[in-house]
Amino acid sequence: MIQIKSEEEIEGMRATCRLAAETLVMIESHVKPGVTTLDLNDICHDYIISHGAQPSPLNYRGFPKSICTSVNQQICHGIPSERVIREGDIINIDITTYLNGFHGDTSKTFHVGAPTPKGEKVRRVALSCLEAGIAVALPGTLLRVVGATIEALAKKNRCSVVREYCGHGIGREFHEEPAVLHYEDKRDQVMIRPGMIFTIEPMINLGKPAIKHMPDNWTVVTKDHSLSAQFEHTILITEAGNEVLTDLAGTKTPLKPS
Ligand code: MF3
Ligand code: CO
Ligand code: CO
Repeated sequence: MIQIKSEEEIEGMRATCRLAAETLVMIESHVKPGVTTLDLNDICHDYIISHGAQPSPLNYRGFPKSICTSVNQQICHGIPSERVIREGDIINIDITTYLNGFHGDTSKTFHVGAPTPKGEKVRRVALSCLEAGIAVALPGTLLRVVGATIEALAKKNRCSVVREYCGHGIGREFHEEPAVLHYEDKRDQVMIRPGMIFTIEPMINLGKPAIKHMPDNWTVVTKDHSLSAQFEHTILITEAGNEVLTDLAGTKTPLKPS
């Protein structure tokens, strides 16, 4: 069942999503050559705790750390470790906070030091895929239009979309219905309605879409070792359109252009 959130739940979601967004802004200045992904984990962990929240990933289905850090060909669910990030790497940092009973989920891909041309490209395509998905995530639209839009844009840029992982409803649970696919499935009949809250989080590969799991059973990588990038926002659907809850600017997409 897809929940329609109450006003009270929406206020709870605003607060946790704001904290997740603030954590991601805070950590950006620490993303520099020479730091370890564990350093980034510990800084985010302390920040989240000091704001009265918990990091949702910690112990989630046995995940051992507080954030996900996915470097270069790592697609998602990278486990923070002693790995040092280097000039020219790209790194996705995925933050989920649990504040007063609600989860807020957001991620970004950063360049470490100066961008490389390939890093720049996959990052740019992943960001524009998220933005294009948000632009069509409007009440009265079929949810599969979000996936179709993202898939078409990735393809136009000769990139591919990971199919095994998707966006998701979010609220009192980390992962709720609906599954938000980042490609089109014509069988998906879900209609986007006001009061829904879900994430959009396309994982975009510079090469082929195929994935592989690492022996740690969490880290997902591209099978062809091509670079992968991802951006994620938590979105509230309103009568008027949508609102990005994990954006400190509070970006809104109106249903009808004003
Ligand atoms: N934050 C991820 C998502 O966007 C989920 C991470 S699950 C974890 O849905 F266990 F790896 F943290
Ligand atoms: Co998510
Ligand atoms: Co996430």
